[in-house]
Amino acid sequence: MKTINNGTLRKKDINQELTLYGWVNKRRDMGGVIFVDLRDRSGICQVVFNRSFLKDDFSIAEDLKNEYCIKVDGKLIERTPEMINPNIPTGEVELMCEHIEVLSKSEILPFNVYDNKEINENVGLKYRYLDLRREKLQNTIKMRSQITMAVREFLNNEDFLEIETPILCKSTPEGARDYIVPSRVNKGSFYALPQSPQIFKQLLMIGGFEKYYQIAKCFRDEDLRADRQPEFTQIDLEMSFASQEDIITLVEKMIKYVVKKVKNLDLDKFPRITYQEAMDRFGSDKPDTRFEMELQDLTAILKGTKMNVFANVIENNGIVKCLIVKNNGDNYSRSDVEHLTDFVKIYGAKGLAWLKYDNNTFNGVIAKNLEDEKLAAMKEKFNITNNDLILIVADKPKVVYDSLGALRLKIANELDLIPKDKFNFLWVVDFPMFEYSETEGRYKAMHHPFTMPSDLEMLKTNKKDVLSIAYDIVLNGYELGGGSVRIHNSEMQKIVFDALELSEEDIKNRFGFFIEAFKYGAPPHAGLAIGLERFTMLLSGTDNIKDVIAFPKTQSASDMMSEAPSKVNDVQLEELGIKVVKEDEDE
Ligand code: AMO
Repeated sequence: MKTINNGTLRKKDINQELTLYGWVNKRRDMGGVIFVDLRDRSGICQVVFNRSFLKDDFSIAEDLKNEYCIKVDGKLIERTPEMINPNIPTGEVELMCEHIEVLSKSEILPFNVYDNKEINENVGLKYRYLDLRREKLQNTIKMRSQITMAVREFLNNEDFLEIETPILCKSTPEGARDYIVPSRVNKGSFYALPQSPQIFKQLLMIGGFEKYYQIAKCFRDEDLRADRQPEFTQIDLEMSFASQEDIITLVEKMIKYVVKKVKNLDLDKFPRITYQEAMDRFGSDKPDTRFEMELQDLTAILKGTKMNVFANVIENNGIVKCLIVKNNGDNYSRSDVEHLTDFVKIYGAKGLAWLKYDNNTFNGVIAKNLEDEKLAAMKEKFNITNNDLILIVADKPKVVYDSLGALRLKIANELDLIPKDKFNFLWVVDFPMFEYSETEGRYKAMHHPFTMPSDLEMLKTNKKDVLSIAYDIVLNGYELGGGSVRIHNSEMQKIVFDALELSEEDIKNRFGFFIEAFKYGAPPHAGLAIGLERFTMLLSGTDNIKDVIAFPKTQSASDMMSEAPSKVNDVQLEELGIKVVKEDEDE
C-alpha cells in the first residue's frame, strides 16, 4: 500500500529508505542522471536516477515518459544548496532511486498535465480523467470534499440526522422540466428524478425526525448556464418547530463554520434586505454588493416632463431609473453606448437614454429635450460631476430592473469595479408569494407552492401583492441557496393551490399523497437548500460550475467522455413498451 504523500517530504525526513508511487509529471535527462518530478495527490517530490545508484537497468529510467505511473525505492537525501528549488515545498530534498518499477505506461497525451495552460474545453471533457490530474481541478475537487465534510461536521454537531431520499420518485414542485425514467414493470408509467428532495424532507418532518439534512443529488432539465448543471447537489436541510429566524441563524452559523474551515476566514454578520429593496437598489434579487453603482430613481424628478418617452411610461404606472457611471464618461464613446443599448434590449428594454456631464453641462440627445429644471434636479439629487455618464431606462418595473440590473454588472466588469477578494453574503427576505407567468397566463409560486404566505386574507383578495415567508442566501451576485417556512395544514395549502389555479384533479394527481400526510398532526417546519457547486465555485474562485464537478455535462446536457445520453437497443425499448418517434426518418 502507498503510505507516503510525496508532497509532504521535508528535510526532517532525510536518510530514510522510502517507497514512493506516482506519475511522471516531468522528466529532465542530463545524460547519466535523470530527474523526475514524481506527482501524487499531495504534490511533487524530485526523484534522481543515477547510474551509480540505480540497481535496475538504467534504460528503464531513460525510457520514462510523462504520465507513466511508477513505483520507486530509494533514500531521501538533502539537495546540495545550488540544487534547492524554493518554488516547491519539497524543494530541499530528493529521492535517490535504487529500484524502479513501471506500473503503467502512458501514450502521448492530448494535452500537458504538468502546466496550467488553458486547454480546449471539449478536449478536456473528453479526457476528463487527465484534466482531473491537473492542479486546478485537483484543488477545486479537494475543496468540494472539504466543504462537504465541514457541513456534515457542523450539522451532526447540531443534532441533525443525515437521511437519504429516493431518486426514482414522483415529480417535485420546483417547476423546471423533469427527467423521467420509464418503468419496465409498469409499462407506460414513469418515475421522475427529483428536482430536489422537497417533498420527502417535509414528509420526514411529518415522520417525526425533527432535524434532517442530506447532501442530495438533484436533476433539472433546464437551459444550462455557467452556474447551472442538469445534475447538481444540494446541501439540503429541514427543521421542525423552527421559524425563518431559526433557519437563518443556523445556516449563517454553518456558512461561517465552513468558510473558517476551508478558507480560514472570519465573516461578519450577513446583512439582510427585502426583495423589493434588492430590486430597487440593484435591479436583482441576487445583488452583487461588492461594488456600489446602485440604480437611482428618476420617476419623481421626471414626472410632468414634456418628453414623451418618459411621460408616457410614468403615466402608465411604469418607472424610470438610471445608472450613474461615475467619472468614466470618457470611457464610453457614442458607439460604445449603442452597444449598451443593444445589450439592454435583450432584457426587453426599448432603448437606453443617456446623458454625459462635462465642462459643467449635460450633453447628449436628451439633454437638448429635457427641461432645464429637471436636469438641475438630477444634478443636485445625485451629485453629478464632470465625466459622469448617466444611462436611463423607462419601462414596466420588471424590464427596468432586469435591464439595468444586468447592465450594472456588465459595466462593473468592463471597468473592473468588482473587488475579487471579497465574500459578500447577504440574506434576501420577503419575496412575493407569486409571480405572473406571461407564457402560461397565470400566477406561479415564486419559491414553491408549499411556502407559507405572510397574509392569508390578502391571498383571497389581492394575491399579486402577497409576500411569502421565504428567504435566499446570496453570495457575490449568485443565488447560493433558498428556503422557506412551509405550510403545515391542509386548509391553508388548499387556499394556496386555489390561488395557483390548480384543479382538484391536478392537485390529487401530483401531490395527493403529500396533502393526505398533513391530516395527521404535521409539525410546523421550515428549511433551506444551498447549491453545493455554487458554494464551491465561489469559495474556489472559479466562475464555471464545471470546474467543481468531477464529471460535468456540456451545454447540451451530454457527457463528452462516455457519450451519454445514447441510444438504447430495440430489446430494451420493447421491454419498456417504448416506441421512439424519429424526427428524421432517414437517420
Ligand atoms: P431552489 O430551487 O432555490 O430551492 O434550489 C436551491 C439551490 O440549488 C442550486 N441550484 C442549482 N445549482 C446548479 N445547477 C442547477 N440547475 C441548480 N438549480 C438550483 C442553487 C439554488 O439556490 N427545495 C428548495 C429548497 C427549500 O425550499 O428548502 C429548492 O430546491 O444554488
